[in-house]
Amino acid sequence: MLENLDKIKQQFHDELNAVESKGELEKIRVSFLGKKGLVTQELKNLRDLTPEEKKTAGMKVNSLKQEIEKAIVEHQKILEEREYLEEIKSAKVYDFTIPSSREVGTLHPITIIQKQIEDIFKTMGFIIEDGLEIQTEYNNFEAVNIPKNHPARDMQDTYYLENGQLLKTHTSAAQNTIMRKYGEPKKGEPLKVLFPGRCFRNENLDASHENTFFQLEGMMIGDDISISNLIYFMKVLLSEVFERDVKVRLRPGFFPFVEPGFELDINCAICGGDGCATCKQTGWLELLPCGMIHPNVLSMGGIDPDKYTGFAFGLGLTRLVMMKYNIKDIRMFNSGNLKQLRQFTR
Ligand code: PHE
Repeated sequence: MLENLDKIKQQFHDELNAVESKGELEKIRVSFLGKKGLVTQELKNLRDLTPEEKKTAGMKVNSLKQEIEKAIVEHQKILEEREYLEEIKSAKVYDFTIPSSREVGTLHPITIIQKQIEDIFKTMGFIIEDGLEIQTEYNNFEAVNIPKNHPARDMQDTYYLENGQLLKTHTSAAQNTIMRKYGEPKKGEPLKVLFPGRCFRNENLDASHENTFFQLEGMMIGDDISISNLIYFMKVLLSEVFERDVKVRLRPGFFPFVEPGFELDINCAICGGDGCATCKQTGWLELLPCGMIHPNVLSMGGIDPDKYTGFAFGLGLTRLVMMKYNIKDIRMFNSGNLKQLRQFTR
């Protein structure tokens, strides 16, 4: 009987080594441990032995049974692992932990300066708002005091959608929505909002005109806001951005939504004031139109113009970035020319 056990053990290991699938493994399990399996048979044979023989033989059969059970479980694990590896290979799973050789992008120069200005204004208590790019005619024109047939609409021709909406021509298109969102300010707590955005106009392209450009608008409304508040914030803005004193000039300017209105020009940094294509040979660049918000605009926004006043400014963000980085041609921004755009890092 003991000889028989050795043979069974040998047979089991030989057969197990040849097993390639779970199905074959199950067959082996049945042929050794099943009801009529070889080991089960040996267990039954114990009955015919003397109690003395039974003791040693019983121990041997049981330990063989355990050995076989263990070997089967282990072999099952090996097969499952093999199966898993095959699956990965055929499924083309990529290893995302392998370091990539791809280059990392850089921020667009306009984004860099926009964030910088947002940070400056945030420290002065301004909220940052996001205006829609597709706007109603009402928000873009009527609500900022530019009624139908007003000549100011000619200067801001734009792209109209079939449903009558348009691509906004200036960030001022968000003024009405913002006034309605925040309502009349509490005493001593003026509403201070900054709203940058992409604008569109039907333009003939040249070094300083694009059909797609960025503005950055700001508004402050309260019970005691005057032109001196406006000038203060404009000075902080420009000196922070240029990190030096910039020469500016203030001219009266007309915009239907401000009264009085101003044009704040800065000395052209590209030619130093001698005159070049960017500044149209004048030595000055219109950069910061601004003024006190027109009473009509306040009342259309649900704010009582007899109680409140406010200023608004509409910074030409694209133009400011040109000045800051000495970029001569506005068309570079949308060109997708990475060689040029990659030069600008903070
Ligand atoms: N929205 C005006 C423009 O794009 C700029 C502006 C904004 C002027 C705010 C005054 C006050 O031309």
